[in-house]
Amino acid sequence: MTIRKRYTGLIETYRDRLPVADGTRLISLGEGNTPLIQLQNIPRLIGKDVDIYVKFEGLNPTGSFKDRGMTMAVTKAVDEGSQAIICASTGNTSASAAAYAVRAGIKAFVLIPEGKIALGKLAQTLMYGAKIIQINGNFDQGMALVKEIVDHAPVSIVNSINPFRLEGQKTAAFEIIDELGTAPDYHCLPVGNAGNISAYWKGYKEYSTDIGSLKAVTNKRPVMCGYQAAGAAPFIAREMIDHPETVATAIRIGRPQSWDLAWAAQRESEGWFDAMTDEQILAAQKLLSSNEGVFCEPASAASLAGALHDIKLGNIPEGSTIVCTLTGNGIKDPDIAIKQCKDAHPVTIEADLDAVKKAILDSL
Ligand code: F0G
Repeated sequence: MTIRKRYTGLIETYRDRLPVADGTRLISLGEGNTPLIQLQNIPRLIGKDVDIYVKFEGLNPTGSFKDRGMTMAVTKAVDEGSQAIICASTGNTSASAAAYAVRAGIKAFVLIPEGKIALGKLAQTLMYGAKIIQINGNFDQGMALVKEIVDHAPVSIVNSINPFRLEGQKTAAFEIIDELGTAPDYHCLPVGNAGNISAYWKGYKEYSTDIGSLKAVTNKRPVMCGYQAAGAAPFIAREMIDHPETVATAIRIGRPQSWDLAWAAQRESEGWFDAMTDEQILAAQKLLSSNEGVFCEPASAASLAGALHDIKLGNIPEGSTIVCTLTGNGIKDPDIAIKQCKDAHPVTIEADLDAVKKAILDSL
């Protein structure tokens, strides 16, 4: 019997490209190493000759890409002697922070907008035992408070303004290049606080540049395409907005913290930002789950909605290789999923063979 090497997380995998000293205690849940799934049915359905891959970050330990950044941020916080971490969150960061804090044996405080986070994310954060502080306000107000509180309480911020978050998240770009052998032509992402698009661009740049003694892995970089929800689209308005609104609560953000970094990613990669309506986002979520068996949360589907939109318009030409990041798992937001399927009408029958047979034969 051959024993396959146990996967122990992204810090160990990419240690030579991360700022972690030898001997540092790693806080990990085996994050990273997520599947890059090639879509088989959707390209046929839209009648376009394109290679679309989805990087399914919903398969991280807490169900979102945040775990990549959190393993780094919490490892560094603990290394620096921190006893407590804090974040503002639309839900996924709070779940991830809570999980890594309990793993590390430190405390997590999370500020969330009351009534505006998906049920699964709330359930996770409760189960991991974080101290949840709900505010009568939105993510942007929570973020402003978190930035102030560090002057008044001994807590480390683990939002993506913490540079170690982006360090961890850049490894997703490494994984894509390691699997494809090169960068894709286009990389499509949902954009909220804008940390992730900035992190991917950092990763792509590092893998295509000689950094220190490390050899470049490829000389190619993708065009970065960032998609926001139409009601929460400061990058399209080209200014911060005060009352963001979208069904994709994860990206219900009007004042992105990584504003400059994300614009740099757009400029340097000759990419673009665009906004998708809630209807387009939900349609892409449904299309993906019902044609490919991949169930992501609404915000994540903004990347596919955007890619399909730009493929249709010819902004992304045929023959292209495209990666869409699916940032979170669909199971996190059961309310939206069930609403999306309100016409599915599950049948209820007697528990006998004839009734089951009839139910099957009627549907064939
Ligand atoms: N997709 C999902 C599922 C998210 O949870 C987020 C951000 C994004 C996309 C956007 O990523 O902020 O790096 O541009 N969620 C944060 C949170 C804000 O608190 O969980 P970004």
